[in-house]
Amino acid sequence: MTHPKALVRWLRQIELFQGMDTAALELISQNMTEYEYDADAIVFREGDVGDCLFLLLSGTMLVFVEREGKPVVYTTLQPGECFGEMALIEDTPRSATVKAEAPSRCVALTKQDFLDLIQRYPHLALGIMKSLCQRLRHGNARLQQYVRQSNP
Ligand code: CMP
Repeated sequence: MTHPKALVRWLRQIELFQGMDTAALELISQNMTEYEYDADAIVFREGDVGDCLFLLLSGTMLVFVEREGKPVVYTTLQPGECFGEMALIEDTPRSATVKAEAPSRCVALTKQDFLDLIQRYPHLALGIMKSLCQRLRHGNARLQQYVRQSNP
């Protein structure tokens, strides 16, 4: 288990929480539950009910779907990245499966705590929006590459 003070220090370095004061970070960290995953462990599957937002503390996570028996990898998540926000924001099932690629540790916030924190600290919503924009940008770049390769 990460020490509460160490968790606050870690949160302070994460882009999502930039600009938040110590009291806010302490409150957020108190609401977090820590989980450990062995390599290849599934965090959740596409289609599951989404009840938590996750932050990757250490290790790497693969985000993928399976189509016609083959994995389609969307991204590999690195420490400091959050995942699982889409199902909470849209109130939809998980859009992809997330699996630990290496032994990994995450902290999770329940949906209700996440929604409460966003109301209290709108800055957090801006951080989530930034991360969604980065993912869209990355997806656009991959689409361009795919079109270029399909129409040489
Ligand atoms: P959610 O739909 O709740 O569960 C799967 C998660 O994978 C999703 O939230 C996002 O956090 C993440 N995810 C989905 N698509 C992508 C993508 N293209 N790039 C990065 N992360 C993604």
